[in-house]
Amino acid sequence: MSEHFFNRLEDELNSSRDKYLFREVRLYPECRINLCSNDYFQLRHDPRVIAGAKEACEKFGTGSGASPLLSGFLPCHQSLLDELKKWKQKSYGLLFNAGFLANQAVLKHLPGKNDLVLADKLVHHSMAQALTQGLARFKRYRHLDLDHLQEFLDAHCEEYETIFVVTESVFSMDGDYPDLKKLVELKKHYPFILILDEAHGTGVFGETGAGLAEEMQVQDQVDIIIGTLGKSLASMGAYVLSNSSTVIDFLVNRAGEFIYSTFLSPPQVGSAEIALKILQSAEADRKHLHEMSTNFRKIMKLKEQEETPSPIVPVVIGDPVKTLELRNTLLQQGIMVGAIRPPTVPPQTSRLRISLHTGVTRQTLEELGGILEPWLTP
Ligand SMILES: Cc1ncc(COP(=O)(O)O)c(C=O)c1O
Repeated sequence: MSEHFFNRLEDELNSSRDKYLFREVRLYPECRINLCSNDYFQLRHDPRVIAGAKEACEKFGTGSGASPLLSGFLPCHQSLLDELKKWKQKSYGLLFNAGFLANQAVLKHLPGKNDLVLADKLVHHSMAQALTQGLARFKRYRHLDLDHLQEFLDAHCEEYETIFVVTESVFSMDGDYPDLKKLVELKKHYPFILILDEAHGTGVFGETGAGLAEEMQVQDQVDIIIGTLGKSLASMGAYVLSNSSTVIDFLVNRAGEFIYSTFLSPPQVGSAEIALKILQSAEADRKHLHEMSTNFRKIMKLKEQEETPSPIVPVVIGDPVKTLELRNTLLQQGIMVGAIRPPTVPPQTSRLRISLHTGVTRQTLEELGGILEPWLTP
C-alpha cells in the first residue's frame, strides 16, 4: 500500500488527536458502577433472559445459518416479531441485524426522488447518514422545534410527492423528547409519513413499556416505528413495524441491509423475547427509573431538564479536554460514564452522558453529584 495513502490517514487521525477528538476501542477497568450502558433494566444478566437465550440456542443452534430470505428466518424470529407487533400495535414488521441497519434501510429505500424528508437536527447518525445517501431531498428542523417543522411543512408541502417526518422518541445524547401529541396534530393539516425511532423510548415509557408513542397515546398515528433489541431488550438486532404491508414488502425486496446479511442468531432473539415479556409488566421498575431520573436532575441542579424523566442525563461540559478529564476522574473512583464529543454531538457541547438504570441507588446519585459539583460550579 502506498506511503501516500498511510500519510493521508495519519494526517487526518493526527488532526483528531490534536483536538482531543481521537477515538479508540479500549477495555475499561472493572467499575463499581456502570452508568454507560443502555441496559436500563439490567436485563442482560437476568437469569430468565439468559435462559431464553439458551433455550433458543439449544432448539435452533448458535447461528441462523443464512440470510433471512434463504433459510435464516426461523420460528424463533417469527415468534419475536409477532410479540413486537402486538406490543407496538402494528400489523406488519421485519427484523434487522442492528438498529443502525434498520434506520439505513428505511431512510435510504423508502423516500423516493420526488420526496422530501424533514428530520430533527439531532437525529442519530444512522438516520442522518442515510439521508445523505438516499434519493430524496432532506431538511433538518431545529431540535424538538415543531413550529420550525411546521414552517417547513407550510413552505414545501405542495412541492413534493410525499413528505416524511423523522424523529427519535427519546434522543440518545440529550435524553429529551418531542411532544408527540403536538407532532401528530400536524398530520391533520399536512399529509406526511411519520417515522419514529423508539430505540431509547422502548421499555422506558408507556404503560406496557411499548415506548413514548404508547405513553403519549399516539401509537396509531406513527406510520413506521423503528426500534433496537440492543438497549432495554438486552440483546442486539432491531425491528421495523408498520400497518402497511406494502412498506414491509418493499423493504424485503429492496433493502440490502436485510437481504444480504446472515440473520440474527437464535440466542439473540430468544433473549430479546423474554426481555420483552419482562418489560411489559415492569411498571414498578419504570416508575423507579423515572423517579430516579428526575431526582438526579434535581441533585445536579439541571433546571432546564428537571421535568424530563428519561434515564439519559446529559451533563454538558463544552470543552472536550475537560470532559475527558472528568470522565477519567470518575473512572478512578470506580464510576463509568460516557464522554461524548463531536462529531457525535455538536461542537462546544462535549458532555458526560450518564445513563441511569434500575440498579442505581439514591446513595450512588448523591455520591456522583458530590464528585461532579466542584467541576461544574463556575
Ligand atoms: C436513536 C438510536 N437509533 C439507532 C441506534 C442504533 O441501534 P443499534 O445499536 O441496534 O445498531 C442507536 C444506537 O445507539 C440509537 O441511539
